[in-house]
Amino acid sequence: MRTYYEDYAVSGVSIWSMLAPGRRCISLPSSVTACTLPTAYCTMEPILLAFNSSFSGWVIADFCPRLDITKDVLYVGDILENNIYNVGNMAKHATSAVTTAVGTPNIALIKYWGKRDYTGLNTPNNSSISMTLDETLSTRTSLIFSDKLSKDTLYINGIEEAVSGENIPEKSAYLKRTLDYMRKLSGTKENALIVSENSFPSSAGIASSASGAATLVFALSNALNLKMSLKDMSIIARQISGSACRSLFGGIVKWNKGSKADGTDSYAEQVFDETYWPELIDIIAIVDPSKKKVSSSIGHAATVKTSVLYTARPKFAEKGIYDIEKAVKDRDIDMLSMTIMRDSNNMHATMLDTWPPIMYLTDASKEIIYGIHDMNDTEGKCIAGYTFDAGPNAHIITTEKYRKRVNEMLEHTGVVRKALESHMGKGPRLLREDGSLIDEKALKPKHAKH
Ligand code: PMV
Repeated sequence: MRTYYEDYAVSGVSIWSMLAPGRRCISLPSSVTACTLPTAYCTMEPILLAFNSSFSGWVIADFCPRLDITKDVLYVGDILENNIYNVGNMAKHATSAVTTAVGTPNIALIKYWGKRDYTGLNTPNNSSISMTLDETLSTRTSLIFSDKLSKDTLYINGIEEAVSGENIPEKSAYLKRTLDYMRKLSGTKENALIVSENSFPSSAGIASSASGAATLVFALSNALNLKMSLKDMSIIARQISGSACRSLFGGIVKWNKGSKADGTDSYAEQVFDETYWPELIDIIAIVDPSKKKVSSSIGHAATVKTSVLYTARPKFAEKGIYDIEKAVKDRDIDMLSMTIMRDSNNMHATMLDTWPPIMYLTDASKEIIYGIHDMNDTEGKCIAGYTFDAGPNAHIITTEKYRKRVNEMLEHTGVVRKALESHMGKGPRLLREDGSLIDEKALKPKHAKH
């Protein structure tokens, strides 16, 4: 377990006099290797590492935006070991073969809505908790680093997406920043070809960005041989798309909001593994597979800025997490269903209260909401609950026992175009069998659309 100490007091070490006031510094037990240090801070700033003499005792690191250094440097005691142990040299290099990973979306049972940082850290105002889905819905990502590639290239669902230049989407810019950061950790300078495909509609509120970002970070970490923990990967994935941090783990996953300004304590962790409640299912009722009209990045900011109701949301969500943990622990579908429905409604109420209003739910979504309430009323308890992300498609959480009943109700609404079913999934994995999306010889995607 790592322990971080803010502004660790160091006296008698002359290098500290060089550091600008207000520096950020962390200290770690010496058992932590230097190449794992920077994963806690997604920064492209040069890094200064200061070890006490002979690498024993504590390792102290500072990122030095205001120091006049242009490359990574290392001090042992207060002797400059010029660039001998820079971060790149300490890390492993990229593999030259294609790496392929498969990951899945997660459905938030208590939602993340509203950030406290808008510089790209994606730290949230409230903690959230989710269920990772199985591979019924999945993202497959293949990537390769090669000195034969003249630039970084990304294909999503067969279409090339720009990762640099003016006016690229925010998430693509974050993705590029992550790629640069992880590449730097590995010490390689080679460009990457990244090919990613979703087995489900993208940007339709079915967490495609969560699945995509988590799978990408997992694949990058493996391709670059970085040997990162899932927790550190979750901190990095969070910075591409907040909810992505939860897709690094299987089962029921909590994203701790954290309180530090640098986001190092805002990470995901598993609360129950995927075997804990095998009967639990998510029936995904697709009513409209088209792209959502307001991106979640814009929505988060607009709600925090303008909704009066939003001020009550963080506290409500924190209590909801407690209730979800208890409901899952007791395998209590009644309590679980009620808690997720109330949280989804609460989040969508703050969206409607945003100015101008954001409305992801459609008449079709409302038919499903009414259908579930009627069904639960007839049963005398909640046998299923709905929850909606930033889109009109419903996730209905229930158990195998009530599957037939829920599907009949859905059919009766007449609004569902397609229903998929998922149990809890295990989180991302490497695909060792033949499943690459890249033609390794041609260094091209196998299925590009032109
Ligand atoms: O991770 P983002 O920025 O796409 O935001 C996702 C927000 C919700 O899906 C609505 C809720 C959640 O916690 O997943």
